[in-house]
Amino acid sequence: MEGIGLVDGKFVELDEYVVPIEDRGHQLGDGVYEAVLVYGGKPFLVVEHMERIFKSASMIKIDIPYTLEELVKFHLQLVEKTGLKEALIYSQFTRGIAPRKHAFPQGIKPRLSMTIRPWTKLDPYLKANGAKAILVPDERWLKCNIKSLNLLGNVLAKQTAHENGCFEAIMYRDGFITEGANSNVFVIKDNVIHTAPTDNKILAGITRSTILKFAREFNYVVKEEAVTPDFILNADEVFLTGTTTEVMPVVSINNQKIGDGKVGPITRKLHDAYMNKIQRECYV
Ligand code: PDD
Repeated sequence: MEGIGLVDGKFVELDEYVVPIEDRGHQLGDGVYEAVLVYGGKPFLVVEHMERIFKSASMIKIDIPYTLEELVKFHLQLVEKTGLKEALIYSQFTRGIAPRKHAFPQGIKPRLSMTIRPWTKLDPYLKANGAKAILVPDERWLKCNIKSLNLLGNVLAKQTAHENGCFEAIMYRDGFITEGANSNVFVIKDNVIHTAPTDNKILAGITRSTILKFAREFNYVVKEEAVTPDFILNADEVFLTGTTTEVMPVVSINNQKIGDGKVGPITRKLHDAYMNKIQRECYV
């Protein structure tokens, strides 16, 4: 099956016209979203993702008219309806529908739309041999901790990556690495793992925190501190994390080899720990 949509609890075809012209998500990007991967028919870390959508919504003063349990149930309904085992579920809340004005209109109801689509596993060659990345200036706003619908900065960064034959754009702001266009960035030098702290300049990735937990369990030294572009280019290992990125090794940045240009042992160990967690939780 191709996939299906769910708008405020009602199933729709993916090509149906269901977005009213005056939906504030459509006209102003006034909303928040989440993306959850389904492995073996199970939405992975769905509770964590739904907790984050409540946080994102509250940071832009959208009051979600559903409970967390209802949002989780919508995910399960989409899986059941389509029978998809490997899929990506996207959810977004917009502030609602009203004549176009910047300030919040009174008395409108936030609108939930979701889609499920089949998901093809990440390229095993890239996973095994590592991906290429490019450094680009971070030109986004200063509330990157909110998973908001306004993704133009991320879209342009990713496009630059693709035009340069790269898997990801790694962004820097004020002389420090922030994150990827749709991933968090980890940098390893002399067995110390560095990743940017969860402030307003990055999204606090759910994969990021899962990996940090593993790293601490394995007794690696972890520094939640941003590094410079020069530091990352001279690192021993670099990898990216994200729902749709999983743990992706990076072996070249700006056409410069990272370390010896091969996937490093710490990256491999954390990658395997993450994939084993998916295996344990979703394929039993
Ligand atoms: N991206 N940073 C940004 C800017 C992102 O868009 C994402 C996720 C991440 C990683 O967050 P998480 O581990 O919670 O997925 C970091 C989309 C949703 C994705 O590619 O899955």
